[in-house]
Amino acid sequence: MGIIFDWIDSKFNIKKPHKRFFKRVIPQKLSFFHCLGGITFTFYLTSVISGILLSIHYIPSETEAYASIVHIQKDVLLGWLIRSVHKWSATLFIVFILLHTLRVFISRAYRAPRELNWIAGTLTLLIAFSSGFTGYLLPWDQKAYWATEVGTAMSGTIPVIGENILLAIRGGSDITGLTLIRFYSIHVLWLTIAMSISLWIHFHIIKRNGISGGM
Ligand code: HEM
Repeated sequence: MGIIFDWIDSKFNIKKPHKRFFKRVIPQKLSFFHCLGGITFTFYLTSVISGILLSIHYIPSETEAYASIVHIQKDVLLGWLIRSVHKWSATLFIVFILLHTLRVFISRAYRAPRELNWIAGTLTLLIAFSSGFTGYLLPWDQKAYWATEVGTAMSGTIPVIGENILLAIRGGSDITGLTLIRFYSIHVLWLTIAMSISLWIHFHIIKRNGISGGM
């Protein structure tokens, strides 16, 4: 094993940067509350992996979306489990992102030199909420349809630009197969890319500044 690892290391130079990672200095007064960000990340990764598995069988089409969900639930090997893992990891992701934000707020870790990380975090929060909202439509059942009807209608009440925003989100005046494809694309592609970029920024700043002590 050692020979194989050394050979891989000679090509990729993995050991040296990771040694630096484990030798990083962290404040002495860290508590469980400082794990909330890491727990959030774990739930995010779980939802991404289970989502990739779901995408193998899910069909984002007006006529087949609901049937493909029933197929995943009933016929696909462990499909019911993968779907539950996706739903619960996504739910816990939102719960823990809020707890993490609360911890940062209470311990006032948003102050200089971490103010840019608070801004990057806020962006991450918006992306997380948008992921939840777009994912909710995908089962294409009554609950999904009417929740999206109400949720998207709210944007139509914004003065002056509301009507255009509503048309852009729905892909027309009503919720149709076009809305479903739009939401699917935003859910699996656009928001995943946006989240990867914003998390990279978030982690890069943490690496630069370190974690604040206290609480
Ligand atoms: C996917 C969402 C997020 C993940 C995975 C994440 C992850 C993390 C991790 C691992 C840390 C270092 C350990 C810790 O303090 O918990 C951290 C720190 C921090 N996060 Fe987040 N975070 C997320 C969202 C947010 C949000 C929504 C905000 C605020 C609006 C935020 C603001 C901060 C700040 C200011 C720090 C530095 C805290 C300190 O140094 O004490 N994060 N984040």
